Amino acid sequence: MAILMKNTRLMVQAALFLVLLSIPWGQQVVAAEPRESCRECHQDEKFRVQNKKIYNYYREWSGSAHDLAGLSCTACHNGEPTKASKEEAHKGILPQSNPNSPFYFKNIPKTCGNCHAPILARFAMSRHYDQLNAAGRGPNCITCHGSLNTRVYSKTILQRACKNCHNPRTKNHPEVIAQAEEILERLNHANGYRKGLKFYYKSIKKPGAMAKVDKAYEDVIRFWHEFDFKKLLPRSQDLLVELKTLYVEAHKEDASGRK
Ligand code: HEC
Ligand code: HEC
Ligand code: HEC
Ligand code: HEC
Ligand code: HEC
Repeated sequence: MAILMKNTRLMVQAALFLVLLSIPWGQQVVAAEPRESCRECHQDEKFRVQNKKIYNYYREWSGSAHDLAGLSCTACHNGEPTKASKEEAHKGILPQSNPNSPFYFKNIPKTCGNCHAPILARFAMSRHYDQLNAAGRGPNCITCHGSLNTRVYSKTILQRACKNCHNPRTKNHPEVIAQAEEILERLNHANGYRKGLKFYYKSIKKPGAMAKVDKAYEDVIRFWHEFDFKKLLPRSQDLLVELKTLYVEAHKEDASGRK
């Protein structure tokens, strides 16, 4: 009798367990992920032969910072990601030359600024932005970052992105190249200390201590987009000294902690 009671209780418990289990399963069936036709079609290997440009674009995109952040194609491009055919999926995607396209050269800062608002705010104060809007002579975000933003920001950006406009032939401030080189070197250096600190703070279980470091760095990256080098030259130096000092202190603490 006691055994029977126990069995019944077990059965009730088991039934309850199954009911609980079935709830999330049921929900998953109802709210199936809407498939993103853009990605499904664009990643097709057949484009390697049929359309090399589309193929290369996708290979470069995959694994980029935006891809890793989980952005959908439509976050930037519009279109109908639930439609399987190319014609229907592309509905609403305007050619780039159309002034209403989010990728029309003058609209790009706003398109990117939807998610990078603090950078856009600084960029909007720059000579570049004035020139872009007035005469279409200034760079926009993708002149420097490319469409995929996976590139390493180093001296190569100067060759690729700055020298076209700033050189002795155009007489447009050729001196900014050497200055930008100096600034970028400091930023890269500062970023090295930042990575070291991140590792250290994690190892002593104080990841919260990074907030201050990240903010100091990000503030200067934002400020870079104003392209006011007179102020940026000393400011990038201050940042480097600040992060280096923190790093050296952390290193000392680490050494004394291990004694
Ligand atoms: C069934 C395949 C297919 C689907 C689905 C598809 N595309 Fe395309 N897409 C292509 C092909 C092929 C091209 C190359 C140009 C062409 O053939 O029209 C292209 C070109 C493009 C271009 C380049 C500009 C242009 O018009 O040439 C963009 C941007 C683009 N697709 C974005 C998207 C987005 C965003 C989605 C989802 C909303 C999407 N595509 C869905 C196949 C597809
Ligand atoms: C963060 C914004 C962003 C996202 C997200 C994004 N793209 Fe783009 N895409 C761009 C920009 C910017 C360009 C370049 C315009 C230019 O080069 O002037 C571009 C260009 C393209 C082109 C044209 C390439 C060429 O050379 O003609 C294709 C095709 C394309 N994107 C497809 C996609 C697909 C498919 C996805 C999703 C897997 C996607 N994009 C996600 C910003 C984005
Ligand atoms: C829908 C939101 C969204 C849009 C639109 C968008 N981004 Fe991003 N972007 C992100 C996210 C999320 C990240 C990754 C997290 C971070 O670094 O902030 C990122 C990262 C980046 C990075 C850092 C890459 C790295 O290696 O750390 C750059 C540069 C960048 N975006 C430039 C752009 C440019 C240029 C555009 C316009 C063509 C653009 N973004 C449009 C959301 C967006
Ligand atoms: C004239 C060139 C240029 C223009 C225009 C430009 N950027 Fe940048 N941007 C850079 C450089 C160089 C860096 C990187 C410094 C570093 O991190 O080494 C940078 C850094 C960034 C970062 C941070 C990446 C990181 O390492 O955290 C983001 C995000 C970004 N830019 C977005 C934008 C957006 C959005 C626009 C347009 C509103 C824009 N940029 C316009 C050159 C440019
Ligand atoms: C598409 C052309 C173009 C590109 C690319 C470009 N610039 Fe410029 N830049 C300009 C124009 C135009 C001005 C405004 C010149 C003026 O007002 O006399 C300017 C002004 C500047 C100024 C302000 C100079 C001053 O003293 O007033 C700085 C700094 C600068 N650019 C740095 C850069 C850097 C660094 C890069 C590359 C990461 C770059 N620019 C890429 C066109 C460009």
